[in-house]
Amino acid sequence: MEERNKMKKWKVALIGCGSIADNTYLPRIKDIPEADMVAVCDIIPERAKDYAEKFNVPAWYTSIDELLEKCDFEILMNTTSIPAHHEINMKALKAGKHLYSQKPVGLTVAEVTEQIEAAKAAGVKYAASPIHMLRDDIRFAKKLIEDGCIGEIMKVHTNVCHGGPEYFQYRTADPTWFHRPGSGALYDMGVHGLTMTTGILGPAKAVGCMAKISEPVRTVRSGTFDGMKIQADQLYDNYIITLDYGDRAMAVVESGFCQKDSKAPQMEIFGTKGTISLANDWSMNPMDSLEVYLDAPERGIRGWLKPMEWDIPACEMNFFQCKVVQDLIYAIEEDRPVGLPPEHARHVVDIMCTIPEAIETKSIVPLHTTF
Ligand SMILES: NC(=O)c1ccc[n+]([C@@H]2O[C@H](COP(=O)([O-])OP(=O)(O)OC[C@H]3O[C@@H](n4cnc5c(N)ncnc54)[C@H](O)[C@@H]3O)[C@@H](O)[C@H]2O)c1
Repeated sequence: MEERNKMKKWKVALIGCGSIADNTYLPRIKDIPEADMVAVCDIIPERAKDYAEKFNVPAWYTSIDELLEKCDFEILMNTTSIPAHHEINMKALKAGKHLYSQKPVGLTVAEVTEQIEAAKAAGVKYAASPIHMLRDDIRFAKKLIEDGCIGEIMKVHTNVCHGGPEYFQYRTADPTWFHRPGSGALYDMGVHGLTMTTGILGPAKAVGCMAKISEPVRTVRSGTFDGMKIQADQLYDNYIITLDYGDRAMAVVESGFCQKDSKAPQMEIFGTKGTISLANDWSMNPMDSLEVYLDAPERGIRGWLKPMEWDIPACEMNFFQCKVVQDLIYAIEEDRPVGLPPEHARHVVDIMCTIPEAIETKSIVPLHTTF
């Protein structure tokens, strides 16, 4: 692109030198030509120092305050543990930094609203993880739905679970915090299924939920803390969430640290004229992951179909996460909305904050936010 040839390199800093920084962002951010990693930061000094050395980043710091005071940067990637997000996001936004924050960006609707207002006041762009609404397969599914391909949507079924952060991933940081209040399976995993479902269907009107504690004691299965036992009996780890869309549509979102693995699709969308099924393979390329069932007897078609050849090359998850940062950069340069608006994230936080009441009262509880 003409404009892009005069490319500016944006100074990017990352805070939170943990698992996702190590396995996803820092190895691939160098492949985003518009991004220049200038600093990493972690409250554990050795982690910040090690990551700076490992990924060739020129500077490291040990707190958001020190980072803001001493480092000249323009974009912050916040990959800290969940309870740290709000305070760091607020400090960065108030300091006039553009921001991409890991999910959930805050723990209450009020916190996310405060962040949205701070971004507006500072005139900066703010992108909120998770990344699903930038995935090619989900965008393709959404376009098919908007074109009326599968008729009127009646039901969505989403299943995004894994066996727990201590189970499914190599970790050098202690994963105990995932099982403590202020985090948990709903905030870490529920956020995925809820973002995908509301991304497809729009804001929900009300939420219901059943939840259980499936594994009250967990064992770390890799890395520095291999074999360590974690008491995990304070928070539910297995959720079946229902979303009400009024009239004819509703959704079921299964989420938690309760599936070692699964062959179920990640998402199925059922319409009056057909079904869209998205496999659980995270390839994000519609050709690999998407199938459409069409009931169109007037055209002589009834059965499962695949998308035509896809001219966007498949890109693996780690690089894709960095392309999300690239979307933020393009949004800044073009002064257009980001692909992952925090207003959507706030609606998902609203659902997650309403779920405890739905569980306790065994009822469907109205939601009040939209996006
Ligand atoms: N691991 C994954 O694959 C993955 C995937 C998607 C999203 N996420 C999200 O990314 C975030 C981080 O997850 P993770 O698995 O990398 O966790 P982690 O525990 O491996 O890493 C978190 C890091 O943040 C640091 N930290 C905590 N509070 C801090 C503060 N106030 N200032 C500076 N550093 C601080 C910790 O010391 C630690 O090094 C979470 O929001 C998680 O939900 C992780």
